[in-house]
Amino acid sequence: MPKVDLRAAIGAIKYPKLEKSLDELKIVEKFIVENNTLKVELTMQNPEAFAQVEKEIHRLCDKEFKEVIVSQDLSKKKDMNHGHTHNPNNRAPYAKKVIAVTSGKGGVGKSTTAVNLAISFAQKGFKVGLLDADVYGPDVPRMLGLDMEKMKWNDQDKIIPGENFGIKAISVGMTTPRRDTPLVWRSSVAVSALIQFLEDVAWGELDFLFIDMPPGTGDVQLTMAQELPIAAAVIVATPQVVANDDVSRAIMMFKDINVPIGGLVENMSYFIAPDTGNRYDIFGTDGGKNTAVKYDIPFLGSIPIDMEIRHLSDIGEPPVARGSDEHKKAYATIRDGLLDAMAQG
Ligand SMILES: Nc1ncnc2c1ncn2[C@@H]1O[C@H](COP(=O)(O)OP(=O)(O)OP(=O)(O)O)[C@@H](O)[C@H]1O
Ligand SMILES: [Mg+2]
Repeated sequence: MPKVDLRAAIGAIKYPKLEKSLDELKIVEKFIVENNTLKVELTMQNPEAFAQVEKEIHRLCDKEFKEVIVSQDLSKKKDMNHGHTHNPNNRAPYAKKVIAVTSGKGGVGKSTTAVNLAISFAQKGFKVGLLDADVYGPDVPRMLGLDMEKMKWNDQDKIIPGENFGIKAISVGMTTPRRDTPLVWRSSVAVSALIQFLEDVAWGELDFLFIDMPPGTGDVQLTMAQELPIAAAVIVATPQVVANDDVSRAIMMFKDINVPIGGLVENMSYFIAPDTGNRYDIFGTDGGKNTAVKYDIPFLGSIPIDMEIRHLSDIGEPPVARGSDEHKKAYATIRDGLLDAMAQG
């Protein structure tokens, strides 16, 4: 077989147990022919998967060369800044799409939105995982009723994610013995922990991996964009901060680093009086829509400020699963808008 065809045949080998090929995952780092020797270097971490691919390469190439050497390049694991946001690594080849829920601001409802949106995707039949990337204030376990969950490992030394309301989830909050244990990690340690969650959790195959981002536009946001092909960033803002600098900085940053923005969610947007059912637009109307127009991003919808949302979130009964029909519908609208935006993007 000519060398070009061999290179293509190797690239077309499927990563074990996944539907994606080595070339789709950008795993073939080197393909060198010298004299009568072929050297192939793969950036694979998983030893079983590597062994299978190595066997397949020998099957394809052994009769064409005197010697075939297949090696594993593990350097990417150590080199945190290897990826580039224009051509990111893919540390989550098991996920078809990665969705980052983010905001320049703290306390606007990123985690609440991430949890409920992830569940609403599962309600539509998708396989969903949720990674809590907020290592300093991990709220996901509590919101999913997984805060008493302890981290467990399977026989292959992979972390078994928690599971509730139809989604799998992992959080640094599941490694600490008590939920109020403060973490005093340096940001490089935080980033390493997240990389480990991406690579060493037994997620299985996922349609969507949601990332609940910490507040701000710092190291974690950038690393995630370097290490994962993010299909959509969902920007969460409240009406008070929607036109705020922090939010626009987040939108601009994601645009700059080439991460597609799935759209804007306005959280705690309006208030429905429980006694009369009257709607109050406390902060005026259309702030979110106007901001979305200004930055040319989709407006995905609004979530009201509601005691039920806060209460159910606090006790680990997500409103999209256990709340009123109105709240379920609000999240479903955002989900469907996001699916549309991703289909078009
Ligand atoms: N629509 C809502 N109605 C009522 N309360 C809400 C709503 N959305 C969020 N909250 C409450 O507001 C608080 C902050 O929400 P959340 O933790 O989701 O924000 P965050 O942006 O993830 O915060 P952080 O920046 O600290 O990670 C929580 O107590 C949550 O229950
Ligand atoms: Mg949060």
